[in-house]
Amino acid sequence: MHTVSEERLIRPAKNIYGSLRLPGDKSISHRYGMLGSFAEGTSRFSNFSTGADCASTLACMEALGAKVTRTEDGIVEVTGVGGVVKQPAGPLDCGNSGSTMRMISGLLAAQQGEFTLIGDDSLSRRPMERIRKPLEKMGARLTLTEGHAPIHILGGPLQAIDFTTPVPSAQVKTCVLLAGLQTPGTTTIREDIRTRDHSELALRAFGANVHRTSNSVSITGPQTLSAIEATVPGDISSAAFFLCAAALFPGSQLLLDSLGLNPTRATLLDVLTSLGLQISVLNLEDKHSELIGTVQVTSPAEGLGSTSISGSLAAQLIDELPVLAAIAPYTSGGIRIRDAQELRVKESDRIALVVQNLKAMGAEVIEYEDGMDVPGGQKLHGATIESGGDHRIAMAFSVAALRAEGDTLIRGSESAAISFPEFFDLLDFVAER
Ligand code: S3P
Repeated sequence: MHTVSEERLIRPAKNIYGSLRLPGDKSISHRYGMLGSFAEGTSRFSNFSTGADCASTLACMEALGAKVTRTEDGIVEVTGVGGVVKQPAGPLDCGNSGSTMRMISGLLAAQQGEFTLIGDDSLSRRPMERIRKPLEKMGARLTLTEGHAPIHILGGPLQAIDFTTPVPSAQVKTCVLLAGLQTPGTTTIREDIRTRDHSELALRAFGANVHRTSNSVSITGPQTLSAIEATVPGDISSAAFFLCAAALFPGSQLLLDSLGLNPTRATLLDVLTSLGLQISVLNLEDKHSELIGTVQVTSPAEGLGSTSISGSLAAQLIDELPVLAAIAPYTSGGIRIRDAQELRVKESDRIALVVQNLKAMGAEVIEYEDGMDVPGGQKLHGATIESGGDHRIAMAFSVAALRAEGDTLIRGSESAAISFPEFFDLLDFVAER
């Protein structure tokens, strides 16, 4: 397969100023799209993610019998299969999306039929053992290709399990819950570090009964789901790029409207506050138990301080670590990241690529197996950035480039569209030059 790699030139900026409303959260859109497609009736979602990853989820669910339409006013309408999927005509293509592949595997393991899940080169390198273990414990018949995709599933009735996940992963948790939803008895998944809880909240919104304790989630199957109408909150992981961009310039002012502020996702706001940003949250609302609010940010005149991220904090901030590392040289005291070895098995090896690209911009950085130390007080220069086809690397270094000396070329910039197709236009809109 020949893939075209685009390049994007980023010029330095003087300031970040403006007000934005961001497209819908990727994690929530995956779940609403998948549950709506499995439920009884027609669901309607406004502000659904515009990213290619969520389109992969919808395309797989269409191949399994759901009906998906996009109305002129941007609403995604999904008519579900009412709990029984149809046999797809061919392999289900999950594209670049780990969430699609891991979560759909749980849904399909309990369905009658044979299913093959494939993905692009990056997804075909990502670890899938983590879902095979619990699903096989439930009695599922699942074949991986040396621990990776393609995944072949011979679906059928399963048994409930009580499982403690060795890796903190909301995708693994969701995979088990979606199998448990269809399985007689109570399936429990336990996690030492609490991961994002969108699946628990979404399952409840679609009418399922889910029981939670501080470190476990249980579901008693079989249960049916009913269609909902929902607005997807703005994606806080996309907002992270703008919040970090604002942090680079003393006196920046940014307002982000209708942003998802689920406490399992909003840790970034605490970290940015500890670095010195002034953040206020206004108009907080609850939509299907997801918090939505307006975030107003002012960057401190005296610049950014320093911070250390490890333990459960590293797991909760996993998607935001590349951009935090990319702005770290511009802080006064640097940023230390540990316990983030999961970064090595994301869409790329994000530790290796962040280190490589920081060095390309002239920064000093020390790499560890599970993180890095980025000293503060550094000046960076423009460089050619290798995104490795990873959306978060392309966007993180577009932000670092705003305060560099000289222009920066982002290679593989089209990858931003995996989660955030509007990224470069919005960056141009708020970056004052
Ligand atoms: C996600 C969970 C995280 C995150 C990914 C989205 C989700 O992955 O990095 O971007 O929607 O559940 P893991 O489950 O692998 O930690």
